[in-house]
Amino acid sequence: MRNYPETLLDPGQSVVVIIDHEPQMYFGVESASRRMVEDSVTGLAKAAKLFKVPCILTTVEAKSFSGLMASKIQQIYLNVQPIDRTSINSWEDENLKRAVEGSGRKRIVLAGLWTEACVAFPALCMKQDGYDVYVVTDACGGATKNAHDMAVLRMAQAGIKPVTWMQVMLEWQRDWNNKDTYDGVMGIIKEHGSAYGLGVEYAETMLKASHNSQKDGGTRMSKYPILLSEGHFGKVVTKNRIVMPPMVTNYCDENGSVTPEYIAYHEARAAGGVGLIITEATCIDKDARGFTTQACFDSDDQIPGYKELVDRVHRHGAKMACQIFHGGRQASIAKDLVAPSAIPCNLLGMVPRELSVPEIKKIVQDFVDCAVRVKKAGFGTIGFTVVFGRG
Ligand SMILES: Cc1cc2nc3c(=O)[nH]c(=O)nc-3n(C[C@H](O)[C@H](O)[C@H](O)COP(=O)(O)O)c2cc1C
Repeated sequence: MRNYPETLLDPGQSVVVIIDHEPQMYFGVESASRRMVEDSVTGLAKAAKLFKVPCILTTVEAKSFSGLMASKIQQIYLNVQPIDRTSINSWEDENLKRAVEGSGRKRIVLAGLWTEACVAFPALCMKQDGYDVYVVTDACGGATKNAHDMAVLRMAQAGIKPVTWMQVMLEWQRDWNNKDTYDGVMGIIKEHGSAYGLGVEYAETMLKASHNSQKDGGTRMSKYPILLSEGHFGKVVTKNRIVMPPMVTNYCDENGSVTPEYIAYHEARAAGGVGLIITEATCIDKDARGFTTQACFDSDDQIPGYKELVDRVHRHGAKMACQIFHGGRQASIAKDLVAPSAIPCNLLGMVPRELSVPEIKKIVQDFVDCAVRVKKAGFGTIGFTVVFGRG
């Protein structure tokens, strides 16, 4: 069947540019509710990530005037450094232009503040330079409604296409049979799709209720009202009290980074109804592991992978904790087995080297750094910090 790639947006041809979603620019927005604009651009940014559409971030005078790119967007693109400019027209900035050209894409999807300047100027120039330009109007804001509307009108007259963020995402999805992105789209709709998102949640609840009552006549699980009631773990609230304890899977790679198998393993358990999943012992240092493909979170480069894991689990309503860990005298693959004292453990029987005080301080700092990464990746709680080798 024909899918009209020359007419409708296709993820393989698109590049998203998010312009000046910075605090100072938000303060001046009066064309629409600022919360709505922020929600729309966040939905757009998540959709771009889901569909692997390159997303370029740019700011104007971030440090001296406008403030940093909105944190909700930066959280989605932790490894993307916004291109900071002095020019109002981002298309007159060589770095921005190079980034767009470097994407190799000809369809530019723009969202920015304000519509009448930072969006309209580059949009008109990009159009003149032969690009097919789309402006996501609900992810843009202007100083007044009139300013926003007139800017959209002017752009439309020049052949630039006004669209909305949900429309862009649905255009990329095109068919609900595209299973790779189906769950992700639904998750984004639930988070940012307002009434439609509520509708999706309602439909899912009703379907689940009818499925459960058909499966067990409504009696089997209802025998466990406490188990199925909300759980409270510190500040983390879980939908039930079913907790998956930490269990080493060895599904990560040699660096301890997340792999598709590792994600699928956790997602299957979240889909099965677990309320809280605790990761396997996730090392703060590659050399402190017990197994060669055990999880390890000792580099910022791993944050996007762990974030993907958390997002996929969250989609099923489960919460996630990360158990951060140092293997101590049971770090069986360590080249240098260390412990507070040179006493062998009963399990491995090897004599560890006694740590010096500076080395202990370094391990403490590694725990702190790892905990910061865990938080950045979106884990609900930093599970249970342990130093092994007690046995
Ligand atoms: C294969 C396997 C891997 C495990 N990995 C961890 C781990 O990474 N961290 C941890 O604290 N406990 C680990 N455990 C212990 C489990 O979390 C523990 O067995 C679980 O809490 C269930 O307790 P139970 O066996 O007393 O029912 C592991 C257990 C197994 C069987």
